[in-house]
Amino acid sequence: MKGVILAGGLGTRLRPLTKVTNKHLLPIYNKPMIYYPLETLVQAGLKEILIVSGPEHAGHFLHLLGSGKEWGVKLSYELQDEPGGIAQALGLAEDFADNKPVVAILGDNIYEDNLSGSIKNFATEPIGAHVFLKEVINPSRFGVACVKSDRIIEIIEKPQKSPSNWVVTGCYLYDTQVFSIIKKLKPSSRGELEITDVNNYYIKAGTMKFSKLTGYWTDAGTFESLLRANQLAARKNGFLVED
Ligand code: DAU
Repeated sequence: MKGVILAGGLGTRLRPLTKVTNKHLLPIYNKPMIYYPLETLVQAGLKEILIVSGPEHAGHFLHLLGSGKEWGVKLSYELQDEPGGIAQALGLAEDFADNKPVVAILGDNIYEDNLSGSIKNFATEPIGAHVFLKEVINPSRFGVACVKSDRIIEIIEKPQKSPSNWVVTGCYLYDTQVFSIIKKLKPSSRGELEITDVNNYYIKAGTMKFSKLTGYWTDAGTFESLLRANQLAARKNGFLVED
């Protein structure tokens, strides 16, 4: 399996924090945000990882992460010229993937769970897709899964009325078909190629699997979730945050 960290986009919801730097370089407790998804992939044993970022701060990622030697992995870099969506960013990884299955992770997602079991399992028979669900109290900010008899029957992106509290978190395992699926996508009403459309394609094909997270999970793309990510990471490191 090859790993892809999606760190494009403008981080507009975090302005002015993201006016002169990139969201994924902001601190989460004692590390830059992008260290967390990188360490999730490293923990799963991935050795070749691509970082997709916008052109404005690409040099900063290279400066920060370098060759990947510090983590014992080989890092590559790709530019997403315009923030055309998560699926568009993943589409840029086609040459890098080189006909191998991929683990794509969003650069602002922080996982407590160790995902290596599911990733290694998928690697033994890389057919279809696999997502990780988490139960949350505010699902309508995310892709929400409708689950029936232990199958996901649909994912709805940012629904006004959520069909469940189970959200699709930002780590996705895909077989080699994913790039041809991305090529068929049309931009959504917000003008982006949506990762949820990719996932719904696999659901319709009957090849989507999932697991449920037991540890904490959060994104860090809003002021509230950025603060929460900092608090969770601080607690995890034994630093008590006063509520
Ligand atoms: O965090 C999980 C959620 O992430 C999922 O539940 C949603 O289904 C999924 O659409 C996504 O929702 P967001 O609206 O929170 O995604 P956002 O636009 O904040 O982008 C998340 C990351 O994806 C961002 O940190 C970098 C990467 N990205 C995003 C865009 C729009 C790119 O690399 N390129 C892009 O063009």
